[in-house]
Amino acid sequence: MWMPCTIWDGRIRTSSKHPSWCGYGSPRHFVQSLQNGFLTMKRIPISNRIKYLEPSSMSSFKSCSGVIVSASEKILIDTNMGPDETLALLRAEQPDIAIISHYHLDHCTWGPLVSEHTDAELFIPEGEERYLTSLDFFIEKTGGAAGLAREWTELTLDVTGYREIRDFSTYPHGHQFLSDDVTIECVGTPGHSPSHTAFYFPKEKILFTGDMGVDRFGPWYGWTDCDLRELIASILKLRSLDVRVLLTSHGGVVTSGIEKEASPFFKGGLRGISQAVSPKSPPAPLYERGEITDHTFQPPPCQPVGADLCVCPFEMDRETAHKTRDDKVALIKGNHIMKKVLGIVASPRKLGNSEMMIKEIGKSIPIPHELKLLRLADFDIRHCRACYQCLFKEEKCVLKDDLYQVLDAILDADALILAAPTYFLGANALLKLFLDRGLAFYAHIDRLWDKPAVGVGIAGIPGKEGYTLLNIQSFLKLMMTDLKATRLIYGALPGEIFMGDTNQQLAADMGNALFSEPLKQEGPSCPLCGGDTFRFIGSNQVQCVLCSNTGRFETSTDGPVFHIEKGEHEMFLMREDALQHREWLCQMKGRFLEQKKQLKEISRSYLKGWEWVKPEDK
Ligand SMILES: Cc1cc2nc3c(=O)[nH]c(=O)nc-3n(C[C@H](O)[C@H](O)[C@H](O)COP(=O)(O)O)c2cc1C
Repeated sequence: MWMPCTIWDGRIRTSSKHPSWCGYGSPRHFVQSLQNGFLTMKRIPISNRIKYLEPSSMSSFKSCSGVIVSASEKILIDTNMGPDETLALLRAEQPDIAIISHYHLDHCTWGPLVSEHTDAELFIPEGEERYLTSLDFFIEKTGGAAGLAREWTELTLDVTGYREIRDFSTYPHGHQFLSDDVTIECVGTPGHSPSHTAFYFPKEKILFTGDMGVDRFGPWYGWTDCDLRELIASILKLRSLDVRVLLTSHGGVVTSGIEKEASPFFKGGLRGISQAVSPKSPPAPLYERGEITDHTFQPPPCQPVGADLCVCPFEMDRETAHKTRDDKVALIKGNHIMKKVLGIVASPRKLGNSEMMIKEIGKSIPIPHELKLLRLADFDIRHCRACYQCLFKEEKCVLKDDLYQVLDAILDADALILAAPTYFLGANALLKLFLDRGLAFYAHIDRLWDKPAVGVGIAGIPGKEGYTLLNIQSFLKLMMTDLKATRLIYGALPGEIFMGDTNQQLAADMGNALFSEPLKQEGPSCPLCGGDTFRFIGSNQVQCVLCSNTGRFETSTDGPVFHIEKGEHEMFLMREDALQHREWLCQMKGRFLEQKKQLKEISRSYLKGWEWVKPEDK
């Protein structure tokens, strides 16, 4: 039966006259909307290897947003940009692999172009072969089922340019495409179409949702081959993934609010479905028919909410197990997968104030977590030799020391707590020694970006902390974290910081803030980065020493107010800044080669005629 309803912002709208045509109203409107769009695609870099491609017009059913992966293989996913643009794209990119997420026209009509214009292998989802290889089958299962076979055939052929695909391979759900260090998992998300697939990049925590996105149509079409129960199971499956960046077919890129339970798609979508639709069949476990994958919740026994649909994984308040990739069981409490928190102790003193403060903050993290500690002094971290090798080739530092043990622990963590003591007016040099190896961090922007973090500086003499807090802030900003709070506290003897209650309360506040809203800034701060250290550079001009941007300040009754402007070369304010800064660093080599002759001439004049003090044993 054709169910004329669509989800719009989490609500279901119905129309008794026409089927929804995915939110386009009548078929006539729908056809017109297809004829309007001339597309100029936009490329948005998401990581070093992954780009999001967006057609300039989303009004046309001839196109959808897609993804390009540039590893040892060039992989295109759903890059249906409209016929001309797709052709230009295929010719320019010459992919090795092209993947279609599902058979709907806006995702599939580029299929035949792949074999005609490239040597790429075209992959389509197992189970949708007949839609993509037979016009008759396609029409019968879609518009034909609503008595619109003639109109739908015209539209399919004349407007969207559907052609049967001849040359293809299939991929099953659960399949992984691997290229270099990029893994693309094909996450089966049926319900929207019989074999709809989303694509998950586990290392980068990027999810290309296909049509299971936060777009204005919503994922429920109500076509005869759509399945509501499978759709809900698919939503829950996607909800259980650890995602930092959501790429959608029609709703752009989403980087904030993904994890929030109130997310309009994940929660609102489910609520909308459960309230508006009441299937006749009795409630059955949602996972009965679908496979349980690595990322699927095992829903606990539950009471149905609203209609007879199981939406309780969002409501549960007891512990349950989460089967992980390597078959270990991670604990989920409520709706939370256990968070991994890393405490970085930048003091050489065992059981000193830094260590105790981190442990105290850990006690107050309100959600299930596992706190691991790392003392920088335990590791052999050598000084950076400025060879820039880590930006090129294998993007690895050439030094044989413990850098990657520490970096891996940071990459693996969901959040960081840092504490460092003041040594001679600045943070202990262990912190800077590690940070100086930071060119090697740029190979990991995806995994570093936006980890929640808090930092504490500890000084023995009130007022003699110097620039310790700035060191803590710049360390965490350059590690690309989402800084929730940094504070300076006093105490010289081990344990002295907890002689009163104040720092215990501060630790509790910081623990609470780690996975939540940032703590309120204590004094005036930079509106761009939150830094609170400024250099006066003119009558009323200042520079924020953390983000390096300049601006003016004025005094108000509440104290100084800073108006700082974003510069052209940013390092960490946004993910794009970090990616661009990495590009700029990589271009250093070219700049050096361009000016090599002049530079050599300058340095040659400083080569000889100086005496060195050398270590005695060398
Ligand atoms: C070599 C050294 C230099 C220090 N310099 C300062 C300083 O400049 N200002 C200050 O307030 N405290 C200074 N301190 C005190 C420490 O910051 C203080 O004892 C702190 O609590 C140490 O933290 P920890 O127990 O985590 O190592 C210094 C301590 C040492 C050992």
